[in-house]
Amino acid sequence: MPPTKPTKAAKKAATKPAKAAKKTAAKPAKAAKKGVKKAADAAAALLEQPVPGAPGSEPPALEEPTTPREPLPPKADQTGPAVVTATGTDTGVDPTARAQQGPFLTTSQGARLRDTDHSLKAGPRGPTLLQDHHLREKITHFDHERIPERVVHARGAGAHGVFVGYGTADAVTVAGFLAKDKETPVFVRFSTVLGSRGSADTVRDTRGFATKFYTDEGTFDLVGNNIPVFFIQDGIKFPDVVHAAKPHPDREIPQAQSAHDTFWDFVSLHTEAQHHTLWNMSDRGIPRSYRTMEGFGVHTFRCLNAEGETSLVKFHWKPRLGVHSLVWEEAQLLGGLDPDFHRRDLADAIESGAFPSWELGVQVFPDDEEQVFAGIDLLDPTKLVPEELAPVQPIGLLTLNRNVTNFFAETEQVAFHLGNLVPGIDVTDDPLLQARLFSYVDTQLTRLGGPNFSQIPINRPHAPVNDMLRDGFHQHGDHVGVAPYRPNSLDGGCPFHAGVEDGAFVDLAVTVPAATKVRENPASYDDHFSQARLFWKSMSSVEREHIVLAYTFELGKCYEQAIKERQLMALANIDDELCAQVAQGLGLPAPERTVEYPEPDPSPALSQVGGETWPSDGRIIGIVVDPSGDTGSVDEVRRSVVGAGMVPLVIGPHGGDLGGGLIAQRTFGTARSVEFDAVLVAGAAPPASDALVARDSKAGAPATPATDPRVTLLLQECFRHAKALGAWGDGQQVLEESGCAGAGVVTGDQPAGVLAEVQELLGLHRVWERFAAEV
Ligand code: HEM
Repeated sequence: MPPTKPTKAAKKAATKPAKAAKKTAAKPAKAAKKGVKKAADAAAALLEQPVPGAPGSEPPALEEPTTPREPLPPKADQTGPAVVTATGTDTGVDPTARAQQGPFLTTSQGARLRDTDHSLKAGPRGPTLLQDHHLREKITHFDHERIPERVVHARGAGAHGVFVGYGTADAVTVAGFLAKDKETPVFVRFSTVLGSRGSADTVRDTRGFATKFYTDEGTFDLVGNNIPVFFIQDGIKFPDVVHAAKPHPDREIPQAQSAHDTFWDFVSLHTEAQHHTLWNMSDRGIPRSYRTMEGFGVHTFRCLNAEGETSLVKFHWKPRLGVHSLVWEEAQLLGGLDPDFHRRDLADAIESGAFPSWELGVQVFPDDEEQVFAGIDLLDPTKLVPEELAPVQPIGLLTLNRNVTNFFAETEQVAFHLGNLVPGIDVTDDPLLQARLFSYVDTQLTRLGGPNFSQIPINRPHAPVNDMLRDGFHQHGDHVGVAPYRPNSLDGGCPFHAGVEDGAFVDLAVTVPAATKVRENPASYDDHFSQARLFWKSMSSVEREHIVLAYTFELGKCYEQAIKERQLMALANIDDELCAQVAQGLGLPAPERTVEYPEPDPSPALSQVGGETWPSDGRIIGIVVDPSGDTGSVDEVRRSVVGAGMVPLVIGPHGGDLGGGLIAQRTFGTARSVEFDAVLVAGAAPPASDALVARDSKAGAPATPATDPRVTLLLQECFRHAKALGAWGDGQQVLEESGCAGAGVVTGDQPAGVLAEVQELLGLHRVWERFAAEV
């Protein structure tokens, strides 16, 4: 199975939605008057620029519209689920068809309404009448708008896309969606694990990476994480780890994080969690973006090929943009400054045409009785197989190219399940996987209000459905026939069993060795530390330093001394320097190692620093602009940034037109470093009118600073977080005065040259030399 390049079809799928964008950037309403038109023109100019995040498909009029019209169409980057019937028949209806139609407000039954602003009362000052059916319908529906959030992975973001097979998996599996150039629609939901629905995106946590492939042979769900191993070896421990990691039951704090006593109490006692926890404490726990995360199926699956041979397989998603992370301070700042950072990043990238993509790959192992590869138990989900021992072989390309039209209908109601399998892919006896096979549908029965959630549009299969499941809450199928049972003669014997030649899913006939029923693990599961050490040894110095700081922070937030001491004992079994440095930070003695195991070799593939460079597609470039300077040349830079596939955000001393039609998307007051991957300074940036220089000077800042203090802060924070900075003209002076100099700071006379160098620096994600790590 040699690695192959993306196919033509994949490239086609990844083309920009430019045409559609033009089509929906429609004209302002006819009713617009003069002043209204001016506002609309300005907004249209904004739309012309590739600034993602505009709330509607048309710029709104300044005055409240008075002429009835059809609802606005969705934005060009949006789509809904394919419109298929509850039983999977393609209706040919456009997925962007609106849930509403007609120019007038109606009841849910379609009766037009004259007034929704006043309840029906006995006189203007009288009591409200019970007979007001519209009031009751409106309030009753509202009262029931919320559904339970997911018990874990409650916070997430989703997008539609397409998967194109390379055909390279033929040797391993008969799964049709992996065939060469086969295109399959997909829906992907990314998530954090611990936080509530409204929690911040950038907390330190594992991330979910769940993909629904709507294949011709039935829906296949690959429900993975961005970390290749898990906390526990057996699903029966899942409630324990989640109870420990969720906020404390008494005060319900802290939200969406592991820096608290119950979490460290559990993982320090339950040392099989140490490997996963080490990944959490590494930069993998704070991804830069969903677009820059790897994904892993975690468990080993069993695949079947056309020759009837089986193999054991681990699935991997490799992001085209490489694996990149935030630094901890950025993650913390973002928790307050932009808690929706990852959700916004995903939607903005798609809207700007920088479609995120991942290659799906497999590690393939012989399916023998042992189910062990290179001494690694393939059924133990706390273990990974280093890529150096079993290379990840690419088998297809996933491209996310459309945002959802409605978050609730799609992202919230999507329901993944590991039992959604297709012929050619089956499960193994991994005890974590086995429990998951039960858990997802069980929880969805409550979360989605009954057994028919596979009929919700986002969950509808695209393959024909002919089951014998009947009735239940929210039944959408209007089933014909009288015999939903087998055998029958009344419905002509339908539905029939399918044979293998008809594409039936066949549970693979795996021999289970004679055994005694027990509640215990195999002996190989007792090794809790060797792979944690393997991960630690694979990290670069700067990554190790981040790990030390993360443990020190997290344990520093614990109150109980015994828990800190116990976790240090676990760290001593991973690495003595790691343990010593964390102990020093906590002011505790470093314990001695107590567990012996063979020294593992490092796996360089686990590090995200050094080596390769990555595309800069969709990265955010801030441009600080002086309106008294040459805004025309700044606009050229802005266009060059767009041309290079990145997203420019113009930062001015005030909003609106900075001169010559150059529109500010951020101001000195609204721009913060954390949202930019690099910042360019295109001119002087004297204090803006809202800079409050006098107040700052009371706190020791210069009374008459040459540069707006917020621009200085912006540059210094970018520098501190090892981001590339660039300047030309008077901007060079601004940069110099901010004290930012050295590696990754690019100055020159020609903006084009500066931009080119900055883009090159982005290929490495950060200016790593600025972190003088010594761990
Ligand atoms: C390898 C280990 C695991 C991985 C990779 C994983 C991954 C995920 C992901 C990605 C989601 C979010 C799905 C979505 O976006 O809707 C999720 C949800 C969930 N997981 Fe897991 N999980 C793992 C282990 C478990 C275990 C052991 C259990 C229980 C025995 C479990 C129970 C759940 C439940 C109940 C949900 C919520 C599902 C819903 O409400 O739709 N998970 N998991």
